[in-house]
Amino acid sequence: MSKKFRVAIIGTGMIGSTAHAPAWSALPDDVELVATADILPERAESVAAGFDIPNHYGDPQKMLDEIQPDIVSVCTPNCYHKPLTIAALKAGAHVLCEKPIAPGYADAKEMYDVAESVGRELFITQTARFSGDSFAAKEYASKGMLGDMYYAETATLRRRGIPKWGVFHMKEHNAGGPVYDIGVHALDMLIWVMGNPKVVAVSGQTVLKFGNKDENLATSLFDSGADAGLLFEPRPYDYHEFDVEDFASGYMRLENGGSLVLRTSWAANVQQGAGSTFILGTEGGLMWDPLRYISNQGRYMADSTPHVPSGPGKAFAGHYQYMAHAVRVLRGEEEKIVKREEVLNVIRALDGLYASAEVGHEVQID
Ligand SMILES: NC(=O)c1ccc[n+]([C@@H]2O[C@H](COP(=O)([O-])OP(=O)(O)OC[C@H]3O[C@@H](n4cnc5c(N)ncnc54)[C@H](O)[C@@H]3O)[C@@H](O)[C@H]2O)c1
Repeated sequence: MSKKFRVAIIGTGMIGSTAHAPAWSALPDDVELVATADILPERAESVAAGFDIPNHYGDPQKMLDEIQPDIVSVCTPNCYHKPLTIAALKAGAHVLCEKPIAPGYADAKEMYDVAESVGRELFITQTARFSGDSFAAKEYASKGMLGDMYYAETATLRRRGIPKWGVFHMKEHNAGGPVYDIGVHALDMLIWVMGNPKVVAVSGQTVLKFGNKDENLATSLFDSGADAGLLFEPRPYDYHEFDVEDFASGYMRLENGGSLVLRTSWAANVQQGAGSTFILGTEGGLMWDPLRYISNQGRYMADSTPHVPSGPGKAFAGHYQYMAHAVRVLRGEEEKIVKREEVLNVIRALDGLYASAEVGHEVQID
């Protein structure tokens, strides 16, 4: 039997405790969870206790030095992805870093460069790709069933779904709002299905209209993405600290002459989940939720709904698939799905969106 990978988790908040820890634990033949680390040591300790993990630390570097894990999950707020990922890579571990890889192309590229220089794999958990619909869409596109894909739109619009359990709403810790939280998933999935055309120009808008006010509305953690709830006492939320965008839109030109539109919000006066995701191609189109293939059959226009095999039907199901995939990649059994050039294309496009919003006109990306 092949050796088990010794896995550690840095950042044991919502996603560390309700997605990474259970998803790694679901691979007992391949993985052994060996340590947790969090700057709030009580969180590291309680997740270690909850998942039978033998070591917990308040200092991630000390954990890396003493435990020397084979794989590290980096599950901290966005601004700490880069230093912790690089520290883990330099300590000899492969890294699964949460999305967005980092707030900014230069930092993201440096992370991949370090991974390459030390000969370790860097996986970014763009888990929106890891669903039956996404894999089916990718297959339709790759087999030429869409033809030339010249336009796409995606919308991840929450009516009131600001994540309030951590520091998502603070630039200092996360650098951006829904763009880096849910927009990055939507854009990543769409561009991947389209074959990763390079984004060459962006016209973007970011606004803050609701997040920094007390609307006294009843909201839920589930509506803001904590699909498996919380396993810890959340940090007290204060809307006065909210200084990221709560809505953004971007029109992106692609190097192949195509274009796409991204819209994303944590708060907007729109029905939860409104807006659609679709790709237009010369041979067919795809629409999401549910996934439909739009084409002609003989003299007739026809829509078909593929019967996509259903997944495990649990919270953060994509993480379970991603961790199993990462193990197979590390064992040399399959090719990496989330590749460097795709992640960098997306993060550079989002840099462009923020830069364009700042200057108020379209910006070229080089
Ligand atoms: N892939 C997905 O679907 C998905 C879903 C939610 C969140 N995320 C991503 O996961 C990351 C964390 O989100 P979350 O909801 O778990 O946030 P969270 O606030 O619940 O948890 C973050 C944890 O990191 C700890 N931390 C902060 N700085 C640290 C440091 N320097 N060293 C060690 N620990 C540190 C905090 O104490 C906290 O426990 C974000 O980047 C977010 O974008 C991804």
